[in-house]
Amino acid sequence: MSKGKAIAVAAIKGGVGKTTTIVNIAHILANDHNKKVLVIDANFSSPNLNLHLGAIENDKSIHHLLNNNEKLHNVICEHSFGFHFIPTDITKLNSNQHKLKNIVNELKNHYDVILLDSAPSPKDEMLAAIDAADELYVVSTPDLPTLTSTLKTAKLARQNNTKVSGLILNKVKNKNYELKPESMEKLTGIKLVATIKDSVRVLESLNSIRPVSLLNPNSDVSLEYKKLAALMVNASYENPKWHIRALGYLKDDFKNLTTHKFSKGLSYFK
Ligand SMILES: Nc1ncnc2c1ncn2[C@@H]1O[C@H](COP(=O)(O)OP(=O)(O)OP(=O)(O)O)[C@@H](O)[C@H]1O
Ligand SMILES: [Mg+2]
Repeated sequence: MSKGKAIAVAAIKGGVGKTTTIVNIAHILANDHNKKVLVIDANFSSPNLNLHLGAIENDKSIHHLLNNNEKLHNVICEHSFGFHFIPTDITKLNSNQHKLKNIVNELKNHYDVILLDSAPSPKDEMLAAIDAADELYVVSTPDLPTLTSTLKTAKLARQNNTKVSGLILNKVKNKNYELKPESMEKLTGIKLVATIKDSVRVLESLNSIRPVSLLNPNSDVSLEYKKLAALMVNASYENPKWHIRALGYLKDDFKNLTTHKFSKGLSYFK
């Protein structure tokens, strides 16, 4: 059986959208590309994958693998979104993180893609995810403090000889005060592979515990995730026809449209 690949999504900065990216990509790869996908929560100290997946209670976690030599099949959970995942137990802080790489190597025999959700810190746990990955995507928001930590994340990956495959720019508002996507690409030296807009629908999707790619597959955000997912597995991607995109846009923005006060002008459309 040919080996799958392990992809880490990382950022030293918290809250930039690592887990959101992982869940959407996993959902798309499993459903649109028919890939066998496993998501590992490698955010050992502040895990939140469970919250994104609505799977708060689990008997077994990655800690059982790292600390107790638990059998793989006992810790893998199946999700109705179409992929498998291994959760983290927030109550167990200390673990043999260096064993993650061996575990991932073994799991690559069983999955096409293993996605590693990493911790927002430059400490051992993020390094364990970087080390276990064949390639890394760095998530950043378009502001100076985050750019600084993005540079640090990329440096750590390069020091570890892990390939940095792309920069995912998230929560983009297209405002003048933001760093421009092309500047982010130039300053980091990392190829910009996705520009995801700041969208209230992403927050709503977390609230309803369903990825945006499931809630509205043709929204701007979902299409950007679809393009990224295809790139991650070297598959071709074509944007849907304009009327499908228009429907996705309307579905996304219908609520805004109906509640918009037109007396305030058309600034909403800018
Ligand atoms: N494009 C977006 N537009 C608006 N909100 C977003 C977007 N992407 C993510 N969010 C929101 O930002 C918050 C943080 O996202 P997420 O949990 O994915 O970040 P994270 O990098 O994994 O955080 P942590 O470092 O704590 O693990 C969530 O409420 C999520 O819904
Ligand atoms: Mg997270």
